[in-house]
Amino acid sequence: MLIVLSLGGSILAKNLDSARFLKYAKVLQDISKKHTLLVVTGGGEAARNYIEAARAMGADEVTCDYIGIEITRLNARLLIAALGSDGYPDVPSNYLEASKAMNSGKVVVMGGVTPGQTTDAVAAILAEYLRADLLTIATSIDGVYSSDPNCDPNAVKYDTISPEKLINIVMAIEMKAGSKSPVDPVAAKIIERCKLDALVMDARDPSLLREILGGEAAKKSPVSCGTWITKRK
Ligand code: UTP
Repeated sequence: MLIVLSLGGSILAKNLDSARFLKYAKVLQDISKKHTLLVVTGGGEAARNYIEAARAMGADEVTCDYIGIEITRLNARLLIAALGSDGYPDVPSNYLEASKAMNSGKVVVMGGVTPGQTTDAVAAILAEYLRADLLTIATSIDGVYSSDPNCDPNAVKYDTISPEKLINIVMAIEMKAGSKSPVDPVAAKIIERCKLDALVMDARDPSLLREILGGEAAKKSPVSCGTWITKRK
């Protein structure tokens, strides 16, 4: 299978712990023995800190986004270092470069591309462009809920959800100050338009990625640590 993985900076680069990077790298190396794998790394806490600092100086939002993109690319560089000879040695700065890099047979790792979105959207666009079999959004929550579970104790988790319903939920969450949706609205829209199967999953423990992407993902059956976004009934 061709898999595009959005790897959240908040789980990958937590405390900028090199042992954590190495753990994720090991899992990705294992998955890449069975599947073609491209990874898009997020910015995590460092991106948030840099963006806050820039905003406090009066920087406009596009400048803040460019700063965020740089951090996502730094995390990509770190993950490439952790992958050693299994990683493609450069960070593609656009989708065409990523597509060419994929032909190397190595694990390709990239960060952000353009202002106004997050790396979930980059991963969704890359998956659409490459006609990937699967998009996985690896994050710190175990799937998509009817509302933000951090704010609403009655939020219900879905095993499976249609892209249209995902868009409605994500838009409703984004409208509420302080709430954070598990999927960027741009990514949700791309998932809808390209009819791509996507899995949003908790990957705070990297070995869950190996378990799911190494085996269960191929069957696309329900997983306890995530939600499938699919048009399948
Ligand atoms: P992230 O994708 O890391 O956002 O991009 P996030 O929602 O904070 O995700 P986690 O915490 O890593 O899981 C960090 C920032 O970089 C900019 C945006 O400002 C985003 O908030 N960015 C990223 C872009 O502007 N364009 C991109 O293509 C990617």
